[in-house]
Order: sequence, then structure tokens, then C-alpha cells
Amino acid sequence: MQYKKLGKTGLDVSSICLGTMAFGRWIDEEASQTILYQAMEEGINFIDTANYYGKGQDTEVPYGTGESEEIIGRALKGRRDEVVLATKVGIRMGHGMNESGLSRSHIMKEIDNSLQRLQTDYIDLYQVHLFDQNAPLEETLRALDDVVRSGKVRYIGCSNYAAWQIMKAHGISEKMNLEKYVSVQPQYNLLSREIEQELLPFCESEGVGVMVYSPMARGMLSGKYKSRDDAPPESRAAKGERLIQNYFTERNFELVGKYRELAEKNEVSLSQFALSWVLNQPAVSSAIVGASKPYHVTDAVNISDWKWSPELIREAENIN
Ligand SMILES: NC(=O)c1ccc[n+]([C@@H]2O[C@H](COP(=O)([O-])OP(=O)(O)OC[C@H]3O[C@@H](n4cnc5c(N)ncnc54)[C@H](OP(=O)(O)O)[C@@H]3O)[C@@H](O)[C@H]2O)c1
Repeated sequence: MQYKKLGKTGLDVSSICLGTMAFGRWIDEEASQTILYQAMEEGINFIDTANYYGKGQDTEVPYGTGESEEIIGRALKGRRDEVVLATKVGIRMGHGMNESGLSRSHIMKEIDNSLQRLQTDYIDLYQVHLFDQNAPLEETLRALDDVVRSGKVRYIGCSNYAAWQIMKAHGISEKMNLEKYVSVQPQYNLLSREIEQELLPFCESEGVGVMVYSPMARGMLSGKYKSRDDAPPESRAAKGERLIQNYFTERNFELVGKYRELAEKNEVSLSQFALSWVLNQPAVSSAIVGASKPYHVTDAVNISDWKWSPELIREAENIN
């Protein structure tokens, strides 16, 4: 397992970050706990969650219900300091007018809710889940600076931001002497490479840590889906994951077949190949892996040190 500094911070994080969106949503508490402990045993020290993750994502309740944070909080009792804990704020958490977004009001309420659910008195990395065009950025950054100064949070990061949005935030932080976002969390995988245009070069230039989500395209890059209408019983698509449907295009099924051939030629599984491709991108600090079974963790850890040759990089680039 490789460990890297998160952006310009002094914090060492594993190149595999454990994503916990499945906890309390597609897998129960016992299965979640098994995966979390296994990840820690195998050297993963970086855990990503969000106040929003939980049952609410798939039910009639149109807001987050916090089960993922609660499960992690119970599992980490007595072991909190062994991990770098990242969570998020910004998506709707209740019916009320001010129960979503990045206003001072919502951030101040949700930081305390997250601390309570996670049973800790500090969050290592507090991330805004997405850009909020209805809240002044100055207000968001001032509130985030306050939660750092109060000791509730150690570093701040953003998710789903464009390069210009981070640049704008950095400019405001610089001018107002506030904490800066040290990392960004975008979607990145072999089937979704938009961030190569602007975001990755920007982050490399400015030293912003990049922890990418969905490195296996929500499971599409495991090869378990053979067609739009074929979801294996234990898969997320069968359990109601909606966003994976966006990957079910004719072109993607064709690409998956080609990447599978290259993976087989290199004697690794397609999931490992896809994850390793992401990890071999110089701008990427960590890949957030969504494990729903213990072997997903082992597969990820086993491939995390594979350094690609220039020939293999070229071969993968030539697939289209
Ligand atoms: N900031 C954001 O907006 C945002 C959005 C999405 C996710 N995230 C974060 O990123 C994390 C990861 O996202 P993701 O779950 O979409 O990532 P992913 O790693 O692309 O997909 C995970 C899925 O791939 C399948 N998989 C993983 N390893 C496998 C293996 N070795 N063999 C076969 N199948 C394998 C599993 O599908 P099955 O469960 O179907 O078996 C698993 O649930 C989340 O948990 C969350 O922390 C953040």
C-alpha cells in the first residue's frame, strides 16, 4: 500500500480510500463493519463518508438519513485515531428550508450532527459535497474556517467542483485569510475522463489533492453487467442504484469488452485493471473504492502497488 500526502498538507493517506456509500444502504451494519475492519487491517487508513449516505438515498424520504456515519461511529469506538476520517456536507438532510446547501446555518448544524453520528470530536477532512450557487462562497468559506478554528475539523476539501470554482474559492480564502480547500473529490474512471481537460492539470499546478470517486464506474468496470437489462442479483443495480444506469450505453459495453481483453492479457481482473489505471495517473492522490464485499477490499489492496510500464499506458490509451 502506498501512502501519499493529501495535497499540500502534512497528512499521510493511503492511495486506496474506503468509500462507505454502501453502508446502511445496500449492505447492513454487520457487513459494513467487517469491510471497515478488514480495510484497516490491510493498511487502508483513509475512510470517506457523507452525512447524506444511508437509507434515505433509496427510499421515499427525499433526504439523507446518516446511517453510514452512524455505523462508522459505532465501529470506530476506541479506534478513532487509527484512521483519517473524511465526511461531507451540502446535500439535503431534512424537509426544512435551511436543511441543505452550504449556508453558515446548515454547515454549523451539520458539523455537530456528523460529529455526534461519528462519535468523535474531530473530522480530519470536512468536504463540501457540491458547489452551492445559492450560498455566497465567502459565507461558506468563513463558516468552514470557523469549524477548523474551533477544533471540530482539521482540513477542508470540496467535491464535484470545477477548476474555476476551486480557483475562485482559493482567491477568496487568500484575500480573507481563511482556510483553503486542500483536496477535491471528482468522479474519474476509464469511462468518465472529463476532468483530464481542466481539473487535473489545475490540481497538479496548485498542489490540490485529488481523491477520485467511482474508479470502477460504480461496478460497470467490473464487467458484471452484460447488458442494460441484466443485473446480477447481488449487484448494486439490482438493489436499486440509479446512477449506474448512466454507464449502460452501447459504447461503454463495447469499451468494457476491450479493457477486459487487456486486463486478461496482464493477468488481472477487469476491476483491478480499472482501479490501477486510475492510481497510475500522476495527479491522483487516492482512489475511493466502493466495497460491498470483503474481497473487493482485498482485490483493491492487492493491486494498489502495481506500477504501469509506458507500453501498457500507451496500450490502454489506444483503446477507443
Ligand atoms: N462525492 C460524490 O459525489 C461521490 C459520489 C459517488 C461516490 N462517492 C464516494 O466514492 C465511493 C466509491 O464510489 P463507488 O462505489 O461508485 O465506486 P466504485 O469503486 O467505482 O464502485 C464500487 C462497486 O464496484 C463493484 N466492485 C468493487 N470492487 C470490485 C471487485 N473487486 N470485483 C467486482 N466488483 C467490484 C461493487 O459493485 P457491487 O456492489 O454491485 O458488487 C462496488 O459496489 C463511495 O462509497 C463514496 O464514498 C462520492
